[in-house]
Amino acid sequence: MKILLIGSGGREHALAWKLAQSNQIEKIFVAPGNAGTAKEQKCENTDQTTIPDLITFAKNQPINLTIVGPEALLVEGIADEFIKEGLRIFAPNKQAAKLEGSKSYAKEFMRRHGVKTARHESFTDFESAKTYIAKTGTPVVVKASGLAAGKGVIICNTPQEAETALKNILLDDQFGEAGSEVVIEEFLEGFEASVLSICDGETILPFISAKDHKKIGEGETGLNTGGMGVVAPNPQFSKKHYRNFVNDILQPTLRGIQEENINFKGVIFFGLMVTDNDVFLLEYNVRFGDPETQAVLPLLKTDLADICNATIDQQLSGIELGWKNEHSCCIVAASEGYPQTYEKGKVIAVKEPEEAELFFAGVKKENGKLKTNGGRVLNVVATGTDLASAQQKAYKAIEMVSFEGMVFRKDIGN
Ligand code: AMP
Ligand code: GLY
Repeated sequence: MKILLIGSGGREHALAWKLAQSNQIEKIFVAPGNAGTAKEQKCENTDQTTIPDLITFAKNQPINLTIVGPEALLVEGIADEFIKEGLRIFAPNKQAAKLEGSKSYAKEFMRRHGVKTARHESFTDFESAKTYIAKTGTPVVVKASGLAAGKGVIICNTPQEAETALKNILLDDQFGEAGSEVVIEEFLEGFEASVLSICDGETILPFISAKDHKKIGEGETGLNTGGMGVVAPNPQFSKKHYRNFVNDILQPTLRGIQEENINFKGVIFFGLMVTDNDVFLLEYNVRFGDPETQAVLPLLKTDLADICNATIDQQLSGIELGWKNEHSCCIVAASEGYPQTYEKGKVIAVKEPEEAELFFAGVKKENGKLKTNGGRVLNVVATGTDLASAQQKAYKAIEMVSFEGMVFRKDIGN
């Protein structure tokens, strides 16, 4: 089987690494990939990035299965275009991708199907939004409805902060079209959990839970990032939380997908907030999480190609996911300044760690040298029989990596 994997982050390196372990797969093309996917066994980078170019490439090879990483192409409708051309693709179609592409659509879907979530209203008009916040009070969460690269969510502690957020998004177009509508949401206090799942429209198979460390600073301080580290399973997410998640979120979501005939084939990533004893859905993503994927895949025993093919053929009911009875810890090394401005092109010194995997993200190879090429540069992932040993191995392994301005959190999994 020949695979086309689309994307260039740490998530895609982890997907390529996992796919390469399948003996059904002889070749994995990664478009555009990074310096990590370039060196992975069975892998080769290829530079197509637009949907028409990717289709031409998939036809010419020919590719048996395409897997998509980033959300932008999903929301653009890459799955619909591939399917029209008779190509097999593991990705939700444009309608299904609206669950991530429009927070306002997703919240209405949750409301229609009784999926447990924070109270909310959506607005396109500044004055009405302001009046609503005057009624509900603060703290409150203001979200640009469209895709805003993880920057469109603002937690507002005072009415002034809320007014500024609304002004920036609705009047001053801070996020462009993505901010033509806002979702205003009740502020929930608790801890977060990420649960990835695979859905074929009829069956949904949840993965083990994960805990993403979203803030740049230790002790969950400072700016929000794409994620600075993950442990799996999430040590705070109890069996009771899991049952509540299945009853109040997972099952109503699947019922909603079936009732609305959303032909969902791909990943549903549930971003959860766990308050005292309730589990709420903050958001759907329709893709693998980054860096959740890097932490979760090393624990998955099942062949990923089998999972993807069963999803496309709506045969997921015949798949049982197998998990190692272990824990995993993923630490992200980032460029100083991330998630704001940072420099690129710093030479990376790296030795392959013995007891961990190294997944590259913003890394390119130039004149034979590895250089930084993004905010999140690489991931070190270790597994162990308990969380402490996974953590210990991951922190030992990250000592094998250095570059000027390298930053990483010292408290992943604490
Ligand atoms: P979202 O993209 O909607 O998941 O929001 C991004 C981040 O904002 C989440 O991971 C949370 O840390 C925070 N957040 C979003 N919604 C809420 C909420 N209703 N209450 C508290 N924090 C929230
Ligand atoms: N780590 C969060 C995300 O992938 O959206």
